[in-house]
Amino acid sequence: MAKPETGWLDERLGSKQLLGSFLYRKVPKGVGWWQTMGSATLVAFILLLFTGAFLMFNYSPSPDHAYDSIQYITNVVQFGGLIRSIHFWSSSAMVVLVGLHGLRTFFMAAYKYPREVTWLIGTLLFLLVMGSSFTGYLLPWDQKAYWATNVGTGIAGQAPLLGPWIQEILIGGATIGAQTLTRFFTLHVAIIPPLIILLAGIHIFMVVRQGISAPPKK
Ligand code: HEM
Repeated sequence: MAKPETGWLDERLGSKQLLGSFLYRKVPKGVGWWQTMGSATLVAFILLLFTGAFLMFNYSPSPDHAYDSIQYITNVVQFGGLIRSIHFWSSSAMVVLVGLHGLRTFFMAAYKYPREVTWLIGTLLFLLVMGSSFTGYLLPWDQKAYWATNVGTGIAGQAPLLGPWIQEILIGGATIGAQTLTRFFTLHVAIIPPLIILLAGIHIFMVVRQGISAPPKK
């Protein structure tokens, strides 16, 4: 059987060497399933990007149409309900996985020299993932979404000094309304995902450059 032709691309891009140094790295002894949590988080994020783009085709971020557009996606659009469910479950999975990944790097002391910056970027990524979940929760614009956001922004408002200011910026007025939905939608689709892509790119680049840390000795 003929082998797939990879030489053409390799000659032009050096793709074998590039992929080789990314995929076939030596890993220290004792590395196992716990070290796959970062990649699993990335897979959940990629799923979110694809399913999110699909949802955007039919979602309308205005108080008059948001709820109906979600019903339309779920009940009328072909595979809409399935894709919405994948988006929902991937986001839940991402929160759990990023938590496990953060805990594993903490308990295995992977934050120590020379990986301090990888850890700090990870902390920012964690906050962005939480922000993404929080802003996405309002978008169906139903009772659950409304009251959850009411409680969430209320908690933010209780923070010392900056709390009330953060609450006002998030809500965009005295009560949750059109401004809030627009702001949450913008954060959810146009600000947080590009930031995650950028930071996760740097984060993973650093992991590839530095190699994965050896698990602590028992
Ligand atoms: C979008 C979120 C994130 C993605 C996609 C991601 C991705 C990855 C990947 C693929 C690795 C390679 C090794 C592994 O899977 O353990 C890694 C390593 C690492 N991550 Fe993350 N990560 C994220 C969030 C975080 C968070 C929240 C922290 C901690 C606050 C963190 C800290 C680290 C550290 C310190 C390493 C180096 C581990 C070692 O060398 O043993 N990451 N990350």
